[in-house]
Order: sequence, then C-alpha cells, then structure tokens
Amino acid sequence: MDRIRIRGGKPLSGEIIIGGAKNAALPLMVAAMLTDQRLVLSNVPRLADIQTMSLLLAQHGIAVDPVGNDGRTLSIGGTITSTEAPYDIVRKMRASALVLGPLLARTGEARVSMPGGCAIGARPIDLHLKGLEQMGAAFRLDGGYIDGAVNGRLHGATIVFPIVSVGATENLLMAAALADGRTVLANAAREPEIGDLARCLNAMGAQIAGIDSDRLTIDGVERLHGAEHSIIPDRIETGTYACAAAITGGEVMLHNGRVEHLGATVRTLREAGVDVVDLPGGLHIRRLNGLHGADVMTEPYPGFPTDMQAQFMALMALSDGAAMVTETIFENRFMHVPELNRMGARINVHGASAIVRGVPTLSGAPVMATDLRASVSLILAGLAARGETMVNRVYHLDRGYEAVEQKLAACGADIERLPG
Ligand code: UD1
Repeated sequence: MDRIRIRGGKPLSGEIIIGGAKNAALPLMVAAMLTDQRLVLSNVPRLADIQTMSLLLAQHGIAVDPVGNDGRTLSIGGTITSTEAPYDIVRKMRASALVLGPLLARTGEARVSMPGGCAIGARPIDLHLKGLEQMGAAFRLDGGYIDGAVNGRLHGATIVFPIVSVGATENLLMAAALADGRTVLANAAREPEIGDLARCLNAMGAQIAGIDSDRLTIDGVERLHGAEHSIIPDRIETGTYACAAAITGGEVMLHNGRVEHLGATVRTLREAGVDVVDLPGGLHIRRLNGLHGADVMTEPYPGFPTDMQAQFMALMALSDGAAMVTETIFENRFMHVPELNRMGARINVHGASAIVRGVPTLSGAPVMATDLRASVSLILAGLAARGETMVNRVYHLDRGYEAVEQKLAACGADIERLPG
C-alpha cells in the first residue's frame, strides 16, 4: 500500500488548481440513470471514488465514457439492465446508496446492499428509506440487501426530515424528479453540491423550485432528457489547501476556489489569523503572523463543514491559544486525534468535543490514515512538523484528493509518494 513521506517545515508558496467537487460529481453521475439520453459532465475530478461510481453504473448497464483525453469530461448513459448494487461496491463507497431512488423511479425495483458501519460513525440510510416509503416504495431486508419495489410509479409526498441529511436529500430529489405529482422536501440539506445536482436535474427537464433553500418543491415529470453540466469546484479541497498554506506560514493562490461556498470556513480562518482575499479567479491565502485559537462546531451547511474539522484541528494544534472543536454530525470523527498527539499535539477529547491546546512545534512521526479527511489532516501536520512524517495507508486520500502530493510539491513542499 502506498505511503506518503513528508519532510516538514517548508512554507508553501505558489498556485494550486482546485478540481471539481467529489461530493457533487458522485450524485450527478447517478443522475444519468434518470434518463435514456446522455448526461455529459465536465470538471469531473480524477479520484478513486469516481472510478468506483463508474463501476457501479456499469454494473447497472450505464456506460461512463471519457470525452477527450484529460479524463475530466464524462459522457454517461445507457439502459438500466440490472437493478442490483452489489456489496463489493457499496461497502467501498456509501454514496452507492444514491442509486436507490433513481432505480425505483425508473424501473420500480432496486436491490442495494446495506452500506453497514463506517469508520466515522454508524451512518444509517433510514431517512432515505422512510422518504421513499412515503412516495410509495416498500422495502424488506434480505441477506444483507435492501429489496425495494414500487407498484407502478412513485408518487409525490411531503417529507419532513427529522435531521438534515445530504445523501437522503439527494436520493429523494432524484426520485421525486420522476414521481407522479408534487413532492416537498422540508428541512432539506442545502449544501452547494445539492444545488449543483438540482440545477443539473432542471437542465435535464426536471421542475425543482427552492434550490439552495431548506425547502425543495419538485413537480414530477414523465421523463428527463440529456444535458451538459459543469461541476462546481470542490469547497473542501479549497479549504484543505487554505489550511495547508496557513499551517506552514505560507501563501498560495487557489484557482477556482469560491468564497461563497466557504462562508463559515473563511470566517474561522480569518479569526485564526489567516488572510483570505477573494479575487476574480479564486482565493488568495496568506498567514499573517501567529495562529490564534478559534472554536468551531460542525453543522449542516451553511455551518462549518464536518469535512473540514480534521484539517482545522491540525491547524489549531499549532495555535498560540486553545480551541474547542465540537463535532455534531458524526459520532466518531476524532480518529485523527491520537495520531496528531503522536506528533506532539495536545488534544483531549471529551464526548463530542475536543480541546486543542496549541503547541509551538510538532515533530514528524509515522502515522496511520483512518479516513479521508483524517488522512489529509495528518499531511497538513506533517507539512508543518519538524523532521519526517510517514503517512501510511493513503488509499483513503486517493478517494477524495487528486494528486495531492504533486499539488503540494509544486508549492515547495518536500513530499513524495512511496509505492508500497
Ligand atoms: C455527505 C458527504 C460527506 C459529508 C456528509 C455531511 C457525500 C458523498 N458525502 O455524506 O462527505 O461528511 O454529507 O456533510 O456527499 N443519517 C441518518 N440516517 C440517514 C442518513 C443520515 O441518521 O438515513 C445521519 C448520519 O449518520 C449522520 C448525519 O445524518 O450523522 C448526516 O449524514 P448525511 O448528511 O446523510 O451524510 P452523507 O450523505 O452520508
């Protein structure tokens, strides 16, 4: 298994191009199942999760064909020939559960492996299932699979989510686009990736109102058609490289970074002593003097993203004060803490909160990556630490960060991938 070796202590300086958003690309690829025509997506990031989604779609009979040779434009389409999402693929990537709504809407049946537990928490899909039941689907559990069926067509319903869920909102949005009648999704997630999906669905002929709000109204249509859509830039990749610049005391230009998708992250970075300037082509990031402690609590959008929590904690490990980091979305998302502490950080976890007492320096160490964002937080710590850090088990990283070592090395970091 590949490892990443970092020799820390070099301030980053240079430019980084931010890719398309992974969490927008995955549901958008699934949206191609809603029509017989082709959906052409551009600005697709080149990531392991995109490959996994391509495999899953192929298994359903939907082809994912590259257009041109940079691998960033995909033409997706075909006829659904299988309604089964197998364990082998679903266990690798929870976003696989997003095929449930489109399969039921198009074919009236779906057999999807239960996603099961996941390193960062229980992450059930009960909200997806309850919403689809309200729209006329029936489910039963069979050998670890969820068997879903609908008699005729899904029908519209008013669905009030008890908690905000990105995946459930996306699944039901896609199902509702082809349902009979009006669906209202209340207390819907309003992450920018959902707005991106809704805009693409409307370009395919869907009738969705209330985009970017927590109340989506969908008037179902008989069929959707093909479209071309360019994926929004990845706000989490942007925030991650902003933290990389800040933690090394450097300065970077993040091309395509969008401040309007990063409100809470940018506010917190500024509070911590990081200069963020919104320029026409992206964001310019520069650490001013020292890093100051700033508290954060993760929340659904537009709150501080749980997907930025680990990276921000690495930053706070080197602040001149203390910071309280509270995780409200996932119950087990502090797995980076023991690894950061092995590098000299002073972090104590109590329940859903972590107290980070800043230290003047971190020291390099061999560390183990446990999930996607935890992995990158260890890379950030390694960039700032004295000596050598070896990040093991980096396959998590490749799920969500394209060419991370090349992007950082181009800004002067001493970082390399060692094939394992
Ligand atoms: C998505 C993102 C992930 C991000 C998360 C929260 C993708 C591919 N992944 O994951 O990167 O960290 O949003 O911003 O976009 N829950 C239930 N029942 C359900 C569904 C969710 O209890 O049926 C709970 C989850 O356990 C979690 C919370 O709701 O505690 C939020 O999860 P959700 O927003 O659904 O996350 P994902 O869509 O899986």
